[in-house]
Amino acid sequence: MPHAIPPNVSHDTPELDCLDFSGETTYGDFRDDIVRDGYAVVKNVISPERAAHYVDDIHTWLESFGLGYDRNDPSTIRDECLPIIIAKGLVQAYGAPHESFTWGVRSEPGVIGAFEKIFNTDDLLVSFDAVNVSLAGRLDKKYEEFKPWAHQDQDPERPGFRCIQGFVNLLPNGDNDGGLMVLKGGHLVSEEYHKAFSEEEREFRWTNEMYLFKDTGMKWLADKGLEWVKVNAGPGDLVLWDSRAPHYNVPPAGNTNRFVVYTSFAPVSTATKEDLQQKKWLFEKSKGHSHWAQGFQPFVEAFVGPKRNGVPDPHNTWKPRKPPVLSERAYRLTGIPYIDSL
Ligand SMILES: [Fe+2]
Repeated sequence: MPHAIPPNVSHDTPELDCLDFSGETTYGDFRDDIVRDGYAVVKNVISPERAAHYVDDIHTWLESFGLGYDRNDPSTIRDECLPIIIAKGLVQAYGAPHESFTWGVRSEPGVIGAFEKIFNTDDLLVSFDAVNVSLAGRLDKKYEEFKPWAHQDQDPERPGFRCIQGFVNLLPNGDNDGGLMVLKGGHLVSEEYHKAFSEEEREFRWTNEMYLFKDTGMKWLADKGLEWVKVNAGPGDLVLWDSRAPHYNVPPAGNTNRFVVYTSFAPVSTATKEDLQQKKWLFEKSKGHSHWAQGFQPFVEAFVGPKRNGVPDPHNTWKPRKPPVLSERAYRLTGIPYIDSL
């Protein structure tokens, strides 16, 4: 094995049998897209009005740091006026995984309902994952740092359908607006790919449940005739993809912001008691973790902690600025009420 052991090695989760990837089953809805293409856009899981409400919340949140950002003043779209946001747009710090608007999106009935349909159960966990705030027209040339980072979010040694990940898109998102790139159909060749590349040395990864494609791998995928697709979506649409599908995100090239809340769910039955105890601890400490909703991948704060002028940003307290108020349904998604049943 030519690979270094990643810092975070998680336990295995069962292969999921809720979707039939043989092609012999027709669902008549977005699940057919996931099976065939590895991704899907579920239209209008929240209304455009609700999406606009969350966009307003995100601008208010950015302004609340008191650094000078003003949604109506393009001259303030730069690092000095904002929390530190990397070129990929991911915000894992600043309490964002537990901000009121983040939980609001996760708790929307249309979002939960889509995952209930996939997993055939309402006993679900939600990830305490990041948000993506990719402001168009950044004056600090932030996006010049950006490089495509094709990856899959699943351990190459653990094949099969094990995880579905997603985000709720809050603003109009077309070809020029940044967003998700997916290798259409790439999930179906994942196992074959990793057999072919099992001896190639891997890039550093913070967790075993990730894999970065190199030029050699990209060529292999291209030789299969597979194509990269920019996934466009409207405000309030849910974008889903199989974690075996190669993907990455791109920053906005036009004038429209990209605001999304990552929303990944998994059945409670795929978690261990220890996972749920860890989720309870993370929830109570307002800490985030990856898209694996079982909670076994807490964010490594040394990796995701933002720096301002070379030192940890004092504006990052790891706490939400407006703590969420969870409904009974949303609280179940933390997994805490299920701890004693496992
Ligand atoms: Fe990813």
